[in-house]
Amino acid sequence: MEERKTLYSAIQPTNNLTIGNYVGAIKNWLNLQENYDCYFSIANMHAITVRQDPAELRKKTLALLALYVACGIDPEKCCLYVQSHVSAHAELCWVLNTFTYVGEMERMTQFKDKSARHAENVNMGLMDYPVLMAADILLYQAQYVPVGEDQRQHLEIARDIAQRFNNAFSPTFTVPEGLFMKVGAKINDLQDPSKKMSKSVENPNGSVFLSDDRDTIIRKFKRAVTDSQSTIRFDPENKPGVSNLLTIYSVFADKSVEEAEAEFDGRGYGEFKAAVGEAVADKLAPLQAEQARILADRQYLDSILKSGAERAARTAGKTLFKVYKKIGFYQI
Ligand code: TRP
Repeated sequence: MEERKTLYSAIQPTNNLTIGNYVGAIKNWLNLQENYDCYFSIANMHAITVRQDPAELRKKTLALLALYVACGIDPEKCCLYVQSHVSAHAELCWVLNTFTYVGEMERMTQFKDKSARHAENVNMGLMDYPVLMAADILLYQAQYVPVGEDQRQHLEIARDIAQRFNNAFSPTFTVPEGLFMKVGAKINDLQDPSKKMSKSVENPNGSVFLSDDRDTIIRKFKRAVTDSQSTIRFDPENKPGVSNLLTIYSVFADKSVEEAEAEFDGRGYGEFKAAVGEAVADKLAPLQAEQARILADRQYLDSILKSGAERAARTAGKTLFKVYKKIGFYQI
């Protein structure tokens, strides 16, 4: 039997996920889990690089796990686990820190953005964030890492660190490659369609969260920015708002963009926006119900995390053992 390639990804259990995260990340993982040996983690160690409320962090960790499972990520097929449950992440991060330069971390775009946004708390963890991410990926010898554009720079540095270590000793880490999802996956802000829909945006009307109820969803789409014309046509250059809505509709109503254009040909923006809202709400309702059902079953969730952590720790432990040996840590 041909050996399956390993794939690694993670999501922070912080802010609410948006329909952009669903389309751009979780939904893609459904296909990936069939063809790769997948590790999906809940990156709670990354999350604390900005201040978190402890009770909320705990709650969101389980909520994210329940959401993964509700979306169809199968804990029998992939390894689902919480980052802090596998101590090798912190341990490898420490070693990799000694192969990473302060200057390159200072130049990271996300570090600069976040330091500006959290000027009162520019902690070492925030700066070290990309190294921890490298440790995540390299521990599992992942060939592929599906990420959004915003993580491209972090993936680059993970590759650099892996190569640096391999060159300093002998091949130890698989050098990972990014899988940058294309397929109509990019969903933009409803209020400013030139920007990606973000989970931590200032204007909450621009983002639709997976936890939003039906009325909220419909209201947000009704307020979505369009343009001063009246034709419903896919033209991201000249009609970014309408094109974004067409993309969303096509994904949530399971139609092609061409089919969506044809369906709304000659109809008004008001009617169109209402239909997009309905399509999204219809798709999210069963997902939310399933998430709530799973979330109520703590035993089930704990059992997923326990076996996930065991499996992850086995793989990660092997890599860490090799690393410790190569760098000269005396083993007993
Ligand atoms: N930093 C990633 C994000 O915010 C989350 C993440 C943590 C991650 N570790 C990772 C993604 C490892 C891919 C691989 O989106």
